[in-house]
Amino acid sequence: MFKKEVYSNRRNNLRNEVKSGIALFLGNVDCAFNYPANQYHFRQDSHFLYFFGLQNPGFAGVIDFDNNKDYIFGNDFDIDDIIWMGVQPKVVDLAATVEIENTAPFTDLAKFLADAKSEGREIHFLPPYRGETTIELSSLLGFANADVKAAASVELIKGVVKLKEIKSEEEITEIEKAVDIAYEMHTTSMKMAMPGVVEQKIAGTIEGISLALGGPVSFPIILSQDGQTLHNHNHGNTLEVGRMMVTDAGTETQECYSSDITRTVPVGGKFNERQAEIYQIVLDANMASIEAIKPGIKYREIHFLAARTIIEGLKKAGLMKGDTDAALKAEAHTLFMPHGLGHQMGMDVHDMEGFGEDFVGYDENTKRATTFGTAYLRLGKELKTGIVLTVEPGIYFIPDLIDQFRAEGKFMDFVNYDKLETYKGFGGIRIEDDILVTETGYRVLGKPIPKTIEEVEAVMAEGK
Ligand code: GLY
Ligand code: MN
Ligand code: MN
Repeated sequence: MFKKEVYSNRRNNLRNEVKSGIALFLGNVDCAFNYPANQYHFRQDSHFLYFFGLQNPGFAGVIDFDNNKDYIFGNDFDIDDIIWMGVQPKVVDLAATVEIENTAPFTDLAKFLADAKSEGREIHFLPPYRGETTIELSSLLGFANADVKAAASVELIKGVVKLKEIKSEEEITEIEKAVDIAYEMHTTSMKMAMPGVVEQKIAGTIEGISLALGGPVSFPIILSQDGQTLHNHNHGNTLEVGRMMVTDAGTETQECYSSDITRTVPVGGKFNERQAEIYQIVLDANMASIEAIKPGIKYREIHFLAARTIIEGLKKAGLMKGDTDAALKAEAHTLFMPHGLGHQMGMDVHDMEGFGEDFVGYDENTKRATTFGTAYLRLGKELKTGIVLTVEPGIYFIPDLIDQFRAEGKFMDFVNYDKLETYKGFGGIRIEDDILVTETGYRVLGKPIPKTIEEVEAVMAEGK
């Protein structure tokens, strides 16, 4: 936990963003896995955690903008809880650790909100992403379940985005801890990527590293020699020489800050000529994009810089052709990289995405594209000092997409489809790093994780 004033300062900063009424933050509750008493690992709601700091299930926090008061609603442990789960500080003592004096049992929350409502005060809340929270908000505030999300407060969403997107020193330290653990996960994955190994063995091993050194993984591990499937959670392949293995994985720290790193390696530890050629294009796109990061530039511009690097590289490799500017304008690169260059990152690996990506990655000056591939760009707006984001270009050979675009006659002036046919089965390559936007440019967070061809081969040699 951070120092207690961190949390009161955050709540007070929100007071500059939301003018009146009260903000209700429902913390998460325990969730059943396959029967009520068998529960998933508890994960606090990131926004409750940001403003109220407590990692206890079943709590709610309230910020009263009109009366300058903050509240925690939650129940003390009773003797049954203590028998099964051990002694727990009283709610009043927990609240004091985040500079809150006003506490009440959870059951008092309904009356508190009803009173506020009858006084005509606005009750702001964030869009829920779990069924349990939707049901609780519906019962507390009187909306039908289906209407809860739409009733969320845009004023509160915008205020929270404004505060949370700029990371403080202590938050950056946490994210760097998470990247340092990802270093261990990824170098282990590299060393294990040898022919005959089943992907699940590597995925399980690195998930164990995450749990042992930090916390749970920040999202289900993506690990496969079928890297052309962007979010491939199947780990059933036996690794074969000639394939490349994508590992996209990160961890969460105790304070729930995440890392999100991708590396791609040749099974067996040596790049063949074709793998090295495509890998180097993705690496060039990754490094050129990182180099371009600075406050004031739109991330969409950097996305298209990566796309340009990919087009030029694929032209040299004989897979694309024609005028680069025209190919870029036609977005012909989306056949190879049908996703965005990156996203903001913090407690949520796609930070605050539950609000709707457009509230987080776009603004009045930057509207989201609707075209294929580019529409998946989660972050397009102008960068500011203190934003943490990912840079994750990729090149993928997706047989169904190649077939579809060829059949549609799409990008015929820019793609050498005959040669491309011979790349079906290659898989995909993605290289992802976590970056802080600084006053003068950027900082790659955490201990550098091997990514040049030489560095990757050197680490993999240790695994042989
Ligand atoms: N791990 C999913 C992503 O890179 O966004
Ligand atoms: Mn990732
Ligand atoms: Mn990512």
